Amino acid sequence: MSQHLHTCKPGFESILARELPLHGEQATRQGPGWVLAEAQDSTDAELGTDPGFCFADASVLDARLVEVGSANQTAEALCQAVWQGFQGQGVAEPWRLRLLADDEELNGRLRVARTEFRKRLRRKMGRVASLADEELMDRCDLWQGLYARLVGYGELLAGNRVREWGQRRMKDHPGAPSRSFLKVEEAYGILGREPGPRESVVDLGAAPGGWSFSAAEKGATVQAIDNGPLKGGAAGHPGIRHLREDAFRYRPAGKGADWLFCDMIESPYRVLDEILLPWLDGGWCRHFVVNLKVGKMDPIPLLGHLWGEGERSLRSRCRVLRIRQLFHDREEITCVGESH
Ligand SMILES: C[S@@+](CC[C@H](N)C(=O)[O-])C[C@H]1O[C@@H](n2cnc3c(N)ncnc32)[C@H](O)[C@@H]1O
Repeated sequence: MSQHLHTCKPGFESILARELPLHGEQATRQGPGWVLAEAQDSTDAELGTDPGFCFADASVLDARLVEVGSANQTAEALCQAVWQGFQGQGVAEPWRLRLLADDEELNGRLRVARTEFRKRLRRKMGRVASLADEELMDRCDLWQGLYARLVGYGELLAGNRVREWGQRRMKDHPGAPSRSFLKVEEAYGILGREPGPRESVVDLGAAPGGWSFSAAEKGATVQAIDNGPLKGGAAGHPGIRHLREDAFRYRPAGKGADWLFCDMIESPYRVLDEILLPWLDGGWCRHFVVNLKVGKMDPIPLLGHLWGEGERSLRSRCRVLRIRQLFHDREEITCVGESH
């Protein structure tokens, strides 16, 4: 067995702990913004696959709890943890160093230990120390370095291999009529694809038009379905046709659309049963980005349906499926995928 340390948005630790058994893991402990879990050991091939965490934004795959006492012991434990991560490997590139603490008081202790740790690391592993980078931010799905978190007096959680699940802060666009624009832009990164020229998009519940604007700016042709008005850069955009219709009744003409977008404040089960599943079963879209508002319900049984084998299974209907709580999601989750 190995231990995984998953990180999440603050406030979602208990939900993440309850999600983990869907992916074969058992939570053993949690703290602010993290959940520790027991997991089966993964092979290198499995490390490349995505088990489908929704509420986790990163996972330390080789987490271990180290007992530390004084600042000096903490510094020594951090040096050991670096050595364990790189043993037998030449280090030629800058590597990520993430040192965190659970609260202000622990942060004070960590500050003292950090200075001593950097000093000792320079002494013991000069070259490795010179390549440590606490600011390294470039996108990377799997990185090797040191992730260490002081979680209590005398307790350090450390690991060397971290999988990032793709959530990230996006840049706003001055023409975008809503902050929702950021969600769809982030969702493209999770799917690894975005709408482009000669592609068609149906955007259900489109107003004021952030998602429609995003797709139209990338050259796609958009049908924006909403009784409300489009605003900002979406109003009168040449790539957007606004139809004042009911999204639940709307059906695409001809062979359907390349993309289905849906972002309505509605019951997730209604969106699933009356929109996403019929669209996939009808072959009316190839790709989809569907945001589900889970604030008023328990998202875990819903995730169970989506990943399960039953009638509401999304997994069985999709070639690619990712369901994530995005950086720009609040009490929401976003499903992205590609049909068979
Ligand atoms: C959260 S907003 C969508 C924001 C949009 N994605 C954006 O980027 O600006 C939800 C929209 O769904 C629309 N809506 C709700 N129920 C609808 C229905 N049955 N048919 C069409 N639109 C609907 C609302 O009018 C509202 O404009």
